[in-house]
Amino acid sequence: MAARHFLTLLDLTPDELNYLIARAITIKSNLKAQGPSYTPLPNRTLAMIFEKSSTRTRVSFETAMAHFGGHALFLSPRDTQLGRGEPIGDTARVLSEMVDAVMIRTFSHAGLEAFAAASDVPVINALTDDYHPCQLLADVMTWTELRGSVKGRTAVWVGDGNNMCQSWINAARQFDFNLRICCPKGYEPNAEIMAAAGDRVTLTHDPQEAVKDVDLITTDVWASMGQEEEQAKREADFAGLQVTEAMLDQAKEDVLFLHCLPAHRGEEISETLLDDPRAVVWQEAGNRLHAQKALIEFLLLGKVS
Ligand code: CP
Ligand code: NVA
Repeated sequence: MAARHFLTLLDLTPDELNYLIARAITIKSNLKAQGPSYTPLPNRTLAMIFEKSSTRTRVSFETAMAHFGGHALFLSPRDTQLGRGEPIGDTARVLSEMVDAVMIRTFSHAGLEAFAAASDVPVINALTDDYHPCQLLADVMTWTELRGSVKGRTAVWVGDGNNMCQSWINAARQFDFNLRICCPKGYEPNAEIMAAAGDRVTLTHDPQEAVKDVDLITTDVWASMGQEEEQAKREADFAGLQVTEAMLDQAKEDVLFLHCLPAHRGEEISETLLDDPRAVVWQEAGNRLHAQKALIEFLLLGKVS
């Protein structure tokens, strides 16, 4: 049977995604109660290819494999043949002979798709220029843990129409919630990705209008990895879109604030926003571990409950 990949949230059905969220919550509560005693993947291996920097993604995948009784291998282009021009398809075929799954953080989403097409083992998108689906598993998990089912609720994305924004659009589609996107003109997400989500997703350039009465506010850095040279221009273009405590006050009383991190205080968020009790970013970051455990388990073993 062909391996299942997780390149975007659209690779799993809504039922499967809802299963993963519930399973992640169970895995987390079992870990808190019993420690890392659940080891369904003894001696199995995950190759982790990182062409961009990472703290959370690397630590969560590596810890997930260790807890599960397996092992993760950190591979960077600097010290593998990928950095010396070995074709991506050849690398995928070689890794398929040895490891049980591959996780990739890279620039081009098409490059990730090419890798997956040549891989006999599951490939997980750990961020491309276009999507960051693993982060959305943790984000929806956090929202669900704190507020129950997300179906029919309303979130707002304030900031760049980037890889995280496009993953939020796919999440709105798959988990059936409403998403408002508030970005500067010229920084909209891909029009086709938006159109595919239908009228659940709307676009505005006015942050006051965008945050009114929403259940959840989220944002991300203004310049993503690979866009460092645009930092100054983006700071000017995104002026007025900083998420502040006052902005959260315009939302519902029980609004939550999420940020995938790393955050730039004083840029996309106020200096003090992460100290506000409505900001639940540390729980969100921790949930990367539990959500990805549920994902790895599902891709390698199928549904277990
Ligand atoms: N949010 C996230 O993916 O963080 P890292 O870049 O540290 O992995
Ligand atoms: N949009 C950010 C997310 C980092 C986790 C980036 O791509 O750099």
